[in-house]
Amino acid sequence: MDIIAQRPGPSVQTVFEGDTNPAPALMRQESPAAGQSTADVSIERYFSREWHEKEVEKVWRKTWQLACRVEEIPNVGDHIVYEIVHDSLIVVHAAPGQYRAYINSCLHRGTLLRTEGGCVKQFRCPFHGFTWSLDGKLITIPGEWDFPHVDKATMSLPEAKVGTWGGFVFVNFDPDCEPLESYLENLPEHFAAFDLEDRYKAAHVAKIMPCNWKLAMEAFVEAYHVAFAHPQVLGYYGDTNTQYDVWPGVRHVSRMISVQGVPSPAVADLPPEKTIEQMRRDVPFFAGKPIEVGAGETARGKLAERAREKISRSSGRDMSALSDTESLDLIEYMLFPNMVPWGGQALPITYRFRPYKDDPERSIMEIMFLFSKAPDGSHPEPATMRMLTEDQKWSDAPELGSAAMVADQDTDNLMRIQRGLRTSRKPGVTLARYQESRIRHYHETLDAYMAR
Ligand code: FES
Ligand SMILES: [Fe+2]
Repeated sequence: MDIIAQRPGPSVQTVFEGDTNPAPALMRQESPAAGQSTADVSIERYFSREWHEKEVEKVWRKTWQLACRVEEIPNVGDHIVYEIVHDSLIVVHAAPGQYRAYINSCLHRGTLLRTEGGCVKQFRCPFHGFTWSLDGKLITIPGEWDFPHVDKATMSLPEAKVGTWGGFVFVNFDPDCEPLESYLENLPEHFAAFDLEDRYKAAHVAKIMPCNWKLAMEAFVEAYHVAFAHPQVLGYYGDTNTQYDVWPGVRHVSRMISVQGVPSPAVADLPPEKTIEQMRRDVPFFAGKPIEVGAGETARGKLAERAREKISRSSGRDMSALSDTESLDLIEYMLFPNMVPWGGQALPITYRFRPYKDDPERSIMEIMFLFSKAPDGSHPEPATMRMLTEDQKWSDAPELGSAAMVADQDTDNLMRIQRGLRTSRKPGVTLARYQESRIRHYHETLDAYMAR
């Protein structure tokens, strides 16, 4: 285990063992003695090449990963190329309703069969023309007389495992992996009301980030940093009221729920008109006719009412029965290793994080917006991914709206975190008991995979 041993007090493992509400138990822990340094998670995992290479073997080649949305490959022959460090897969709609993932390497002399997605009837290598059918069988060897030693029947394209959930296609390189169904743990049950199958990808922006992929993800799974990194949202975002959930025995999934439409406890006496004004300033979704707060009403109640109206209109469905939480709050899940899907109806985001090429100090972060399909299932063409370079800002992607400014603030910090960890003389980072419990939980799972 690379979790550093001298952690004071019990780890989140204690919480696994029957404590259904982790907050109070975690917060009761004694503080370390004055001057005693605490280090929960080793820092070499954020930059060492050795760790990175082991992560390829133990994580990227062993876990279920989000490859694409099903609406990106709606027809037989449609495919995308999924890349993770050195590995490349062709994820294809091989037959009606059947998805397959082939190792993207010609079995003649190794050429990449596809460098980008598209629609094909077969996979033909551009070098000498060996050709495979959509079901992975070798069908053509040009000049076949010269290959008497090759039995076509044994030259099918090697495959990775494929599964689908919530309109997402997942892949796993490990032929002996656990089924996607059990890997997802409580996620399907928690998303039963959120209908991710009934959404389509309306925006998709990726950016090269100046940090390890885990650092990027960690910046998006806690609200503890909000007061200092995003002070503009405190008028309408209950940062320190955020609920964090890890569950007994659940390895791959965690959750946080951040309330919106209430001021942060740091600015608790803000009048409700100001909460509404500031939320409308930053979130165009709430623009339009004025929102008045009458006697006995709250800013949160009025904003939720507006959200239900807007969500009903944009989805073409009656959403008047949505709770305030479902219509306003940020209900964010994490699925190990690198997917962050949001529930609720307020902000239909999914994030994905992965290494950029073979560099442990660079990553690709992606932000997708999943909007509701029309009631008849129709939807506009799914968005193609806009790729931002390391020098570009998230705000260079206008389709992200107000999410871009927040992500730019986080990106500036992440550059400093990556460099700061490199100069640190402290062997590990110190995590908050409750507000950073998802990060602790995540690293316990990561360490368990790394130790296999
Ligand atoms: S390398 Fe692919 S056909 Fe020769
Ligand atoms: Fe942030």
